[in-house]
Order: sequence, then structure tokens, then C-alpha cells
Amino acid sequence: MRILFIGDVVGSPGREMVKTYLPKLQAKYRTHITIVNGENAAAGKGITAKIYRSLLEAGANAITLGNHTWDNKEIFEFIDDAKYLVRPANFPEETPGQGYIILNINGIEVGIINLQGRTFLPPIDCPFKKADLLINEIQKRTNIIFVDFHAEATSEKQAMGWYLDGRVSAVVGTHTHVQTADDRILPNGTAYITDAGMTGPYDGILGIEKDAVLKRFLTNLPVRFEVTSGRVQLCGVVIDVDPKTGRSLKIERILINEDHPFFE
Ligand SMILES: [Fe+2]
Repeated sequence: MRILFIGDVVGSPGREMVKTYLPKLQAKYRTHITIVNGENAAAGKGITAKIYRSLLEAGANAITLGNHTWDNKEIFEFIDDAKYLVRPANFPEETPGQGYIILNINGIEVGIINLQGRTFLPPIDCPFKKADLLINEIQKRTNIIFVDFHAEATSEKQAMGWYLDGRVSAVVGTHTHVQTADDRILPNGTAYITDAGMTGPYDGILGIEKDAVLKRFLTNLPVRFEVTSGRVQLCGVVIDVDPKTGRSLKIERILINEDHPFFE
């Protein structure tokens, strides 16, 4: 079972990269399932029904979210009907949407969990305890479990990797938008990376127009953050999972930009 994960898709430049490269990556790596983090897909903040559908049409099987889940108000109109959309599971109980899904991929079930960290992010339920509950539930059906851990602190992400090692197939970090070079298989078979990186503008600051971000740092005045244009990139990982045990065998980083061109 080979899983393709695409890191945080930012605005229309990110969506265009997904449309262009997702089919090529699926063909090159012969992947079985594709998961895309889409929490920045609508102009950097949140997701719309149209964008959700367009990511599925581009080849995604599931879309994960994060701290920007509610930033586009359209989400409230479609989240309860969006079968393949997964928002952080440790949001408060009465929150709309779902925190995990189980997909059947050619007869093999794959659990997908989205969790959000609490360090330098709003205080929500404990992602570690929530993971325990969900893993117990999902393991009744399958050992193949993918976790998108949307968190700011590298320490919290590493902690989650070690906490879940041997209980899930993968813990892949998102949110910080910079791909880390610490991809590895932990001792008990969990594939891990602190951050998969982002998909969208290459020359901005985390995807945002850089002069606005610089002005904010230099003056502390309020500025409008907008997704920038120009050169683009795609970041992600490919993970090989033993379908019998749910343990991962290999994780490989994907990075496509002008400095790291794609080869078929
Ligand atoms: Fe985020």
C-alpha cells in the first residue's frame, strides 16, 4: 500500500500545482491513495465546496484540514456532507465535521486522522489522548492508519511521532510550510516527518506575499496577508506501508520547484 501525501496547498498557485503534478506523481510512484492537506487552499485560509471537489477531481482521496478550518464561512454549508474531508479530531465535541475517516481502497481499509497541536495554537482538546481513542476505534477495522498532525512546534510533532510509533502507519506533520529533512521510519514501524512542506508559491514567506510579511516584522503595523504569485512548488511524501501489519517500510520526500525539477 503506497500513500501519497501532499503538504498544505496554498491558494490558486497551490491548486494549480496539484492539478499539474498529482496525476504525474501517482503514475510515477504507482500510489494507491492520495491525501492532501487543503486548509489553506482558498486564498490561504480555509476551503470552499468547489475547491474541495476540485482537489478530489485532481485525484485526492481525502482532504485534511487544520487551524484555518473555519476561516472560509462556506465550510459550514458543506462540511457535514463532505465524506472525504477530515478536520482536526481534537476540536470541541459539538464542532461540525469529522475528525477521522476510513476509506476502502481496492478492498484494503485505510484510516485517516487529522489532529491539531496546542503549542502556539488555540487551546483545544489533548491531541495525544484523542489519538489514543481514535486509534482504538479504527484498529477494530484496520491497522493502516495515517495521521496528519497539524502543529506549530517541532517538539510537539516529534512527541506525537514517538507516542504513536508502532500504533499507526504514519505521523506526518503539517502547518509550518517548510519541508523538514528528518523523514524516517521510527523503530516500531511508524513513518515520520516533522513537516511535509507546502504546495504553492515558492518566493513568498510561507506562501504569503513577502513585502507584506516584511512590513509586519519591521513595523508591527496591521497588514493584509495575500497569497503571492510567481514561481511555484509542491511538497509531500510517499510512504510504503505493509498492508498486513500496517507498519511502514519506507518514506520518501517529494519536493518539486525550479531548484528541484520533476522527472517522470
Ligand atoms: Fe495551518
